[in-house]
Amino acid sequence: MSEQVLTTLDGGVLTIALNRPEKKNAITQAMYAALAQAVEGAAADDAVRVLLFRAEGDSFSAGNDIADFAALGAGGTAPADMPVFRFLRAMADLDKPAVAAVKGRAVGIGLTLLLHCDLVVAAEDALLSAPFVNLALTPEAASSLLLPGAIGHQRAFELFALGEALDGRTALAWGLINRAVPSDEVETTAAALAAKLAARAPNSLRKTKALMRDAEALWSLMQREGAQFSEQMRSPEAMEAFMAFSQKRAPDFSKGG
Ligand code: COA
Repeated sequence: MSEQVLTTLDGGVLTIALNRPEKKNAITQAMYAALAQAVEGAAADDAVRVLLFRAEGDSFSAGNDIADFAALGAGGTAPADMPVFRFLRAMADLDKPAVAAVKGRAVGIGLTLLLHCDLVVAAEDALLSAPFVNLALTPEAASSLLLPGAIGHQRAFELFALGEALDGRTALAWGLINRAVPSDEVETTAAALAAKLAARAPNSLRKTKALMRDAEALWSLMQREGAQFSEQMRSPEAMEAFMAFSQKRAPDFSKGG
């Protein structure tokens, strides 16, 4: 397991912690591989009743590592071969309950991962955003279906298209999360909810979750989204966006079209 993804099993709860705080827990392909391994392992291990996603440092995740995007965009890796898709498939298939503890920023997949969790606790001042269009990309992780399903088309479109952040209180009011609490209570609240779930009848919980989600349809959508995403990732407008991020300047899309 990677040093940047830490797992611990305690009382039936597998905690999966992102551990790259110096980069705001931006997720690299190596980290996706470790995440996929952790989720696949949890699904197969009877000792694991609940998964709990959390993060070290002040931010849940700044989303996909943008340097990785640029490298993948320039290279020829087929989407199906990317560890991110192994992780997404594992999340689509997961029928054990997943809890998330979110502090600080949750950007891109830092937000869309929450759509695959069943109980989400966020700090009142957490900032959730899905700025795919800011990076000239498109939604992923079945978020093109799950986000409008959770909060409605107009709000979801605004999040995708304008990329502005939503705070934890608003996310709660919009039905995107279960609890918004002061930042210093996020971890304990999420851990308490995970422990409650771990004490529930495991097969009943798994069947309940499976009935509420169509895993095959989610995976099929993830693949369709992936085709659009990787086409965009290789586009001149995305290259400009990635370059602008690395140069700490605003992108210039005036020449695109
Ligand atoms: N990929 C790669 N590196 C990232 C990153 C990402 N997604 N997000 C942050 N980092 C890096 C920064 O480049 C910086 O590295 P440096 O110290 O070597 O310069 C470090 O993490 C800290 O980030 P910084 O931007 O200084 O922190 P901040 O508190 O001012 O802002 C964010 C935090 C999350 C708002 C900002 O980093 C950001 O917008 N990141 C990009 C988010 C994004 O668009 N993700 C992809 C979504 S599809």
